[in-house]
Amino acid sequence: MTSILWVEGSPKGQRSLSSSCARAFLDTLDDVEITHLDVWSDEIVSFGREAALAKLGPLFGEPHTPDQAAIWERVTAQIEQVASHDALLISSPMWNWSIPHALKAWIDVVVQPLQSFTLDAEGRHVGTLGVGKRAQLILTRSSAYDGRSPEMEDHQEPYLRYLFEFLGFDLAESVIVEPTTAFTPEEREALAAEAVERSRAAARSFATAASAD
Ligand SMILES: Cc1cc2nc3c(=O)[nH]c(=O)nc-3n(C[C@H](O)[C@H](O)[C@H](O)COP(=O)(O)O)c2cc1C
Repeated sequence: MTSILWVEGSPKGQRSLSSSCARAFLDTLDDVEITHLDVWSDEIVSFGREAALAKLGPLFGEPHTPDQAAIWERVTAQIEQVASHDALLISSPMWNWSIPHALKAWIDVVVQPLQSFTLDAEGRHVGTLGVGKRAQLILTRSSAYDGRSPEMEDHQEPYLRYLFEFLGFDLAESVIVEPTTAFTPEEREALAAEAVERSRAAARSFATAASAD
């Protein structure tokens, strides 16, 4: 049995297209144990002043204060949740060319020096959290692109791919659903059906690659 952590980036629940695609992806996989993480829930550590001080304090020889130690215990638990799964599924809409702030907030918790990545002898970053784990991105965007600055238009897929590869994950080809702004119900239904079908196909490839490992 493969365990998979589904990190849901859209707050729209049943009305989210990226979440519907993620559910279709997961329904297609056999013999999986799924954990669902809603990044909009109170489960996510709020990474504010004490956490920011706690993150770098030990590198500068400053031990954690009791408040910092308490928050770091929660940060560590969130990292361990990722570490304890075999695979990761991230579903997310594009928000202002990037990702929703709640998904970024979760990323700010789980990406930590020494706990999710380290440095090699030459001082280069080496991811540890994702080593031996596969990951899938399912991403939606309405594609309000006008072509004027193509290099600035997508801070969603390249960012997430860079980040999770940096952590050591083996990333599958992303499912990218665009343009999601269709003006008639028929067009929206056709788009959703096609996106769900592509997510199912991605799940079949994901399962095949996992069994070949
Ligand atoms: C706050 C906000 C910002 C958005 N920004 C963008 C954007 O920069 N580019 C884009 O193509 N779509 C943008 N969209 C549209 C969503 O990406 C699109 O509707 C997507 O299909 C929603 O996916 P979901 O149903 O899974 O939430 C934005 C939507 C919201 C709510």
